Amino acid sequence: MKKFFIKTFGCQMNVYDGQRIASMLSQRGLVETHEVSDADIIILNTCAVRAKATDKVFSALGRIRRAKKPDALFGIVGCVAREAGAHAFKRIPELNFVLGPQSYHKLPEILENPDARLLNIDLGGLEKFDELPQMSQSPTVAYIPVQEGCNHCCTYCIVPYTRGREVSRPFEDVIRDCKHAADTGAIEICFLGQNVNGYKYTDSDGKTYRLSDLIRATAPLPEIRRIRFTSSYPTEMTDDLIDMFRTEAKLLPFLNMPIQSGSPNVLTRMNRPYELNLYIDIVDKLRAARPDIQISSDFIVGFPGETDQDFAMTQEIARKIKYINSYSFKYSPRPHTAASLMPDQIPENIKAARLALLDDALNDIQRTFNESCVGRTLECLCEGPDKTGRHLVYRTPYMQQCIVASTDAAPAPIAAIKITAANKASLRGELAD
Ligand code: SAH
Ligand code: F3S
Repeated sequence: MKKFFIKTFGCQMNVYDGQRIASMLSQRGLVETHEVSDADIIILNTCAVRAKATDKVFSALGRIRRAKKPDALFGIVGCVAREAGAHAFKRIPELNFVLGPQSYHKLPEILENPDARLLNIDLGGLEKFDELPQMSQSPTVAYIPVQEGCNHCCTYCIVPYTRGREVSRPFEDVIRDCKHAADTGAIEICFLGQNVNGYKYTDSDGKTYRLSDLIRATAPLPEIRRIRFTSSYPTEMTDDLIDMFRTEAKLLPFLNMPIQSGSPNVLTRMNRPYELNLYIDIVDKLRAARPDIQISSDFIVGFPGETDQDFAMTQEIARKIKYINSYSFKYSPRPHTAASLMPDQIPENIKAARLALLDDALNDIQRTFNESCVGRTLECLCEGPDKTGRHLVYRTPYMQQCIVASTDAAPAPIAAIKITAANKASLRGELAD
């Protein structure tokens, strides 16, 4: 029996793509292995968002080249494949396939024709969703892509190049996937997209569907207990969507809505043309709709031309909004992006110092929020046992991790957990009576 090995790097969309690839190969009779040396086909499902991510992929390829069986097929799929294209074969001549994020459904061709080299980095839009069979068994959390690509063209971001222009999937296809997920074990649905709240689909009768329509149509599914979506662009947070937080109890009170920087000058150069006041107004509206809502953000520090004063404004907005669970990155110049050509690139040591300062501030905010949860009882999703087998890992409605001492082999998928302790990274709790 032939075996496949797959390793996924990067965002939730990649995690979804990785699951689809694994499911496609399983349905063709291949079995997954976690040992490279045991595999007949090796797939790296890659991320190109920062230079470090791309470097990681090429060093992993170097290791795999030495560890794999001599006749094993190996290659890359995803954003590095699209970024590197045919150049990947020059860097690693033994590669058998290089498939972009919208062409991995072509992977079986290499199984049929193992002596060929397969290169496809086309942006095929929605073709892959149509060509792939449904997953036979959904995990508890089903990631359902609703749109792919991005039209925002932030000047630092490679995603519009690697994943292409925005395309929204047909409403009825997304709902069919949600029903299938509910029927096959999903408890939580997470709608996915690089610009998920920009979802917009017009059917043949001219009726237009938005993300709020997807949420409204999914919420009545009895198996589905929690709904969320990621990642949102601030100005696409329209009133119909904000209203969902008021009316739809299954929608979690947690939203990832990256601001990236607190400086109007930097935001302009990033080509993120929103006023800070507009962003703050949206947060106020969200809090009016759902008083317990928590917001998380992504931040980039050391964007070209960022001054100490600009950076201070980023720290200020982080404290003002009180973001929880945020991600912060040093600006990384990427190919095919406008910012990589801008003057005034910031030296590495200054980027590192600013990142450390921002991380300290974000960690403080997160710890304070986590501590404020102690004593509360929260409805949490069970993710299964931890590595020791002596605890169960739960996810709170704010996506915090909560550890509960238990060896229950068949825990309820959703449980009320009383939070007993907290630190920066996670919570501890016990089953509430
Ligand atoms: N909306 C997208 C964002 C994709 S990139 C999504 O979630 O699918 C994820 C995050 O990486 C961005 O929000 C940004 O903070 C960061 N990022 C993107 N390009 C970057 C770069 N060139 N350098 C550093 N960080 C970057
Ligand atoms: Fe990238 Fe900006 Fe879109 S961060 S994915 S271009 S919203």
